[in-house]
Amino acid sequence: MKKITIAIDGYSSCGKSTLAKQLAKTLAYRYADTGAMYRAVTLYLFQNQIDIHHPEMVISALPQIQISFGIDKDTQEQFTLLNGENVENEIRVNPRVASAVSDVSSISEVRRFLVKQQQAMGSEKGIVMDGRDIGTVVFPQAELKLFITADPKIRAQRRLDELEEKGQHTTFDEVLANLEKRDHMDTTRADSPLLKADDAIEIDNSYLSKEEQLEKVLQLVKGLQVSGN
Ligand code: DC
Repeated sequence: MKKITIAIDGYSSCGKSTLAKQLAKTLAYRYADTGAMYRAVTLYLFQNQIDIHHPEMVISALPQIQISFGIDKDTQEQFTLLNGENVENEIRVNPRVASAVSDVSSISEVRRFLVKQQQAMGSEKGIVMDGRDIGTVVFPQAELKLFITADPKIRAQRRLDELEEKGQHTTFDEVLANLEKRDHMDTTRADSPLLKADDAIEIDNSYLSKEEQLEKVLQLVKGLQVSGN
């Protein structure tokens, strides 16, 4: 079967990564979580006391940042490496990363630095990539573009459950406020705001199970392969 590029965009915590991982596993495609790359850059800046409100300092740090992905041999789960160190847990649970990543990702040079790497990762197709600008900027020619949405309160509850599972205790209101702030920043930033590409298919998964959502998307993939697009 011909390999395609699958671009998944959408709001924070609406299950993009879960869907992307399921698709990659089912189709035997590679998977790239671009949010993890923006989070890893943000973590590097904190670790090195670089003030994120001084873009020129952030820009001069970029050549020292190397991001890659590894696969856990036992669980087959993908994890994020920052300069060779596994930072997967840290980038997910560190509240400073969550609250600063939208500021860091609004710096154009940071975006150009990561978009170049993302395009290189997808140069051979057979990839599922999720983020905010994948169908609009990173892979505007992707054969399948999905735009995922869900009710903010449902997303906040999912995120809260995920954090609890990782041993991070917070409140529903705090999580909801962080999500809404990130949604606002992601959709209103000047460079590559979160936008539904004209040819993206929108899926609201507020009341869809993970399995129902996967089935729906696999049908779309099959449809594309049958029509030869
Ligand atoms: O998907 P996530 O929540 O892990 O993403 C973290 C932040 O990174 C999010 O607030 C916006 C930013 N981001 C981005 O600007 N562009 C992407 N392609 C992916 C994420």
